[in-house]
Amino acid sequence: MTRQLHLNAFLMTTGHHEASWRLPESDPYAHVDLAHYVRLARTAERGTFDSLFLADGPHLWGSVAQRPAGALEPLTLLTALATATEHIGLIATASTSYNSPYNLARKFASLDIISGGRAGWNIVTTAGAEAARNFGIDEEPAHAERYARAAEFLDVALKLWDSWEDDAIVADKAAGVWGDDAKIHPPRHRGTYFSVEGALNVPRSPQGYPLLVQAGSSEDGKAFAARYAEAVFTAQQTVEEARAFYADLKARTVAAGRDPDHIKVLPGIVPVICSTEAEARAHEQLLEDHIVHRHGVANLERLLHLPAGTLELDALLPAELPPEDAIEGAKSRYTLVVGLARRERLTVRQLIGRLGGGRGHLTFAGTPEQVADAIESWFTQGAADGFNIMPPVLPSGLETFVDHVVPILRARGLLRTAYGPRRTLRERYGLPRPANQYVTPALATA
Ligand SMILES: Cc1cc2nc3c(=O)[nH]c(=O)nc-3n(C[C@H](O)[C@H](O)[C@H](O)COP(=O)(O)O)c2cc1C
Repeated sequence: MTRQLHLNAFLMTTGHHEASWRLPESDPYAHVDLAHYVRLARTAERGTFDSLFLADGPHLWGSVAQRPAGALEPLTLLTALATATEHIGLIATASTSYNSPYNLARKFASLDIISGGRAGWNIVTTAGAEAARNFGIDEEPAHAERYARAAEFLDVALKLWDSWEDDAIVADKAAGVWGDDAKIHPPRHRGTYFSVEGALNVPRSPQGYPLLVQAGSSEDGKAFAARYAEAVFTAQQTVEEARAFYADLKARTVAAGRDPDHIKVLPGIVPVICSTEAEARAHEQLLEDHIVHRHGVANLERLLHLPAGTLELDALLPAELPPEDAIEGAKSRYTLVVGLARRERLTVRQLIGRLGGGRGHLTFAGTPEQVADAIESWFTQGAADGFNIMPPVLPSGLETFVDHVVPILRARGLLRTAYGPRRTLRERYGLPRPANQYVTPALATA
């Protein structure tokens, strides 16, 4: 079979564009409306997407004046969406810095069971001091420390998910034996950050554990992804950068002793789609015209770790900015934004316009054919295994993509036309079901 795209619908309130909520078609309360998300999930399922995805952070982000703020908790919302959909994968973001492995492993195992094997976890370490202060920590933990904790978090979570063998439940009514204690393996973990006796209080789920997704592209982030991730979300502005990132990540995965095909790289794209290119550009401009720049300035100053009031709207970024090494927040996004501004000599106002659609993800305005061409070209040039589709306006942007771009991708043989017999999210992504670390292969087949 020819290689096919993996598509993930990255859902965000009224759309990824920060001004989307101001359009006449948008409902400013949609972000807390279950019906809105059910409609989006069913639309993505109509487009035979692999999965949908919700971002998250355990704090109120930025100013509530800017756009609809505060979102439904992803695992809770995805549990509701599991009952409203049949096929599509459900990926929730959860932080390793502000959760404990036992509680989180239990929640993801529950979602995987409820959804029939469709759960995924976007593993993030959460940048910023705002979140830290909600958990009794005054300052943002150092970047390397966050990733060290993330690695131990994963090791513990994997032990917990493996703490039940697949056939631990025997349900032998005649003998009066429900489960086999010999097939329960408490982790008894004692580490730097966590002490967890175990076992988990949820049986092993259809996938064994959720699809593991990672979304940070710094050196530490890539090392973490090479070791654990089965899919990677990333922001890339040019095909050259995306190809370099793709090759680097696949090579690191091989060096970590894994099959490079078992990690799927999905850059984000914000598609602005209209029937002519001119209309698409006009729509992009309309959205940009609705940006309130003072919010953009404040967000940029925060991302670049600059004191409030440093940036001037019609000037370039300051000539002197710290190197990525000195940033303890979101390292790779910092480098991407500074690189974009420098490469294209953008003023702060222009940079805010460029970031308005997708916060650093590639924005592409054009006809359905042009959007399909862009996707195909990145896919065939070794820059992507698929895409994070980030509609600027929701629900209309996702509906336009499914109604007009999906048929083109299908006609070119790049996208499935139906879901077929594969049921779990991991199967959709062409990945094997993971083995249980407590069951040796020899014993498993004996
Ligand atoms: C598509 C995408 C989605 C992301 N979603 C989240 C999110 O929901 N929460 C979060 O804290 N970080 C999110 N991130 C950011 C990264 O996880 C990470 O925090 C950031 O890139 C910094 O990581 P780095 O320092 O390794 O680059 C996302 C990144 C990408 C590319």
